[in-house]
This record gives sequence, structure tokens and C-alpha cells, in this order.
Amino acid sequence: MASSTLNLCCTIEGASAEQQAAMDLLGKQFLLPDERLAAITKEFRRRMEEGLAADGKVLKMIPSFVTWRPKGNETGSYFAIDLGGTNLRILKVTLDGKGGVTTEHQKFTLTQEAKSRTLFDFIAQCVETFLDDRNLRPTGRQPPISIGFTFSYPVQQTSINSGILVQWTKGLNVPGCVGRDVVRLLQDALLRLGLRVKVAALVNDTVGTLLSAAYNDPSSQIGIIFGTGTNAAYYEDVSNVAKWKGANPASGEMVLNMEWGAFDSDDFTFLPYTPHDIKLDRKSINPRKQAYEKMISGLYLGEVARNIILWLADQRLLFDGRSSEILNAMWSIDTSYLSSAAIDNTSDLSKIQQIIEKTLNVPTSTMVDRRIFKTIAVLVGERAARLSAVGVVATLTKRLELLSKKINIGIDGSMYEHFPGFKEILAETVSHFIPKDKFKNINFSLAKDGSGIGAAIVAMLATQTQ
Ligand code: GLC
Repeated sequence: MASSTLNLCCTIEGASAEQQAAMDLLGKQFLLPDERLAAITKEFRRRMEEGLAADGKVLKMIPSFVTWRPKGNETGSYFAIDLGGTNLRILKVTLDGKGGVTTEHQKFTLTQEAKSRTLFDFIAQCVETFLDDRNLRPTGRQPPISIGFTFSYPVQQTSINSGILVQWTKGLNVPGCVGRDVVRLLQDALLRLGLRVKVAALVNDTVGTLLSAAYNDPSSQIGIIFGTGTNAAYYEDVSNVAKWKGANPASGEMVLNMEWGAFDSDDFTFLPYTPHDIKLDRKSINPRKQAYEKMISGLYLGEVARNIILWLADQRLLFDGRSSEILNAMWSIDTSYLSSAAIDNTSDLSKIQQIIEKTLNVPTSTMVDRRIFKTIAVLVGERAARLSAVGVVATLTKRLELLSKKINIGIDGSMYEHFPGFKEILAETVSHFIPKDKFKNINFSLAKDGSGIGAAIVAMLATQTQ
């Protein structure tokens, strides 16, 4: 889908003067000029430096203990657990020695009980099911299976296979875990089931994405998730990490997990907050946290749109002032509805009509209502894509020297993969801030399922280098 779709201006055919005035205001709030992005990027860079210098800063820049790069010629089968924002997956990853992988995986939905109490026992049971279903459970005489654990939450890593949970982000909030070593919690749960499985590596999903991209393309330097949440990891020279007190790795470099979703969460100053964002933040389970993530990622964009829709409906500028029980409920607009709305090019906007009248149960909608709905989806998506470029540009300019040669950025996540126009606007916006001769060296690649594959690769590398 061409980026011009998301660049739609906010003029709504057939709108009343009041409706148009409200849409123009939204346009002003959501369409961010390059100068605004430049100012945010400058602050982002400053925050990166701050996070490299000391612990406890808004951008955590967490050392991952991953100091190697895969060569692409490694072979064998390795296991991973991938706990993401939405699902849990157990994987068996087979490396073909030519940069390619095949995976066998099983997906599990977290039960309410797991989300509220027994998360680690639940994960251990899923590992058991996966191994038993495939007859892979090691017996007493066999060596334990090494497994990589992708844990997509901020962890202060203390070694390649230990780390303290700093806080929950996205939708999860299991009590009793913050401040504890999540590998210990998992390893104990595995032991309770008598499973001979050793957690050999703990990786953030962005670190996994980077490593899986690097197995396929050695020029990979950055791994990013634009999905339920957002974050990035990149290879940094250890000499640039003033807070690093450990031994210098032989390679001289280490992957850092930036935890960039937290950007601006301390002072709420630089991002373009609208009343709709503030409302979302106030009612979220983590108010005043993950400010950047809340403007970019799939967990939140539907809710930003819902707040805008209700703001318009309450002024009788949409749906003739009507709402529905569903629309009144927080989180009732899934970001995937925005994806569908943004690409509805039918003459009567029938897909949008379906979403409004069937899914959201609003009794009727006019063409103007549907056009407004589409424009809201486009505006929220465009702002997310352009703000995403801020993090990418800040990370690239931090290591501008790398751009004299080809570099690959591995990206995974539903926003990147599925939101119409997101990829294109992201790349185009980045191109406005990076000199042409350097921009041509950047390759953006989809690292599908990279988080789990990468964890298996890190488990392999960690086991080989021990
Ligand atoms: C959230 C988590 C982070 C993760 C990201 C993408 O921001 O804090 O660890 O990488 O989501 O899943």
C-alpha cells in the first residue's frame, strides 16, 4: 500500500463546518512535521547517551551479555520459549548452516490463572507438553536440553541466563515477579515437573530478532519490534557503554536492549501528547510509563482511536451523537480494525460500515461517519509510523560510521507486518533524516518470528562458548 494513503489530508467530503473543524484540529495534532520529529530525535539521542552512562535512566540501554554474532553456518536443532505480549510459543529451531532455519512450534494462550498467578508453572507445563507430544523429553541418561527464553519485558540482565524483572509492561501484571530473577522462577518451575531442561539464555525479543536477522544476514546491526509493544536492540561498542563494569568481551561489542518504549515517560515533555493519549495513559494499568510505546504499538492504537471517536460522538459530530455499550468499553477497538479501516477503498466504505455497525454495534453510520472513521485510523497509523522513525534515526545516527557499508535492520511485529502503509512511511521518514549516500546502504527486513528463533540461536551460542 502506497504511503500516500496515509498522507491523506483531513478534508472530509460532505462534512459540516463543525466536523471539518474538528478533523482539522486532529490533523494538526497527529500529522507531525519533520522539524518536530527532528526535535524529538535530538532528545532521544540525549536519552540514549544518558542510559549508556548510568543505570536507572529513562532509556535503560540494558547490556544483554550477547557479545557474539552467528556466522550463518551453524547447524543443529535448538529450543526456545517465546513469551510475548499476546501468546506463549515453544519452538524447536533447526539451523540449516546456510543462514536459513525451519521451525516447529506450538502456540499456547495464557490462561487467566497464568496471567494472574501461576505464569512460570504454566510455561513449564507448556514446555512439557511440547516435548512429550514429540517424544523429545530427555530421560535420566540423556543430557538436559538447553533452551533459550525470550522474555519480552524489561529485565536487568545479570548474566546471559539470569536477570531481574524491572517492571511489567504491555498487558501483563503477574504479582510477585518484579525484583526477582525470571530464569530462576522458570528453572524452579521446570524442576518441579522433573524436566531435564536448562534455561541457557535469557533474551529480550528485540535481541532475539536481531540475532535471528544476523544468522540470515551478517550485516544486521539493529533488531526492532513494532508489535503489541515496541522496542529495539543494537550492537554497541562496549567502550561506549560507560556504565558497563564487567569484563571486556573479546569481540569488543555487545547487544544492548534499549527498552525504548519508555522514552519520555519521566517528564512527558517531548512527545506530541493529545488529550486522547493522556486519557489512555491515565486509565492504563501502567500510567506514566511507556509513553513512546503508547503512541506506536498495537496494544494501544485502537484505544487512542476509540478516545477520538467518543470525543467526536460526544460533540454530536459522529454517529449523530450515538455510541454503544461496546464502543463505550475500554479497549473495544482492536488495532486490527484500524488496519482494515485504513485500507477500505470500497465505494461505500462497506468494511468500515461493518466494523461500526456489526462489530461495535453502533446502530447506523453515514458516509461522512465512515470517512471520518477512516481518517482517524489513517492519522493514528501515520503518527505511529513517523514517531517510529525517531527511534530508528536516533539509533542509526548513534552509529553513523556503520552506514558507510550495507547494514540490515531486522524488524518483526504486527504493526510493521500488517498496518497499511506503516513500513513505507517508516522508511520514507527515516530517509528524510539520513544523508542519501548513507540511506542507500540501509536494508529493512522482516525478521518473521525472529524473537523465538533468535533465542534458540543465543542458547546455542551461549552453550558453545561456555
Ligand atoms: C515492551 C517490553 C520490551 C519488549 C517490547 C516489544 O516494550 O518492555 O521488553 O521488547 O515490549 O515486545
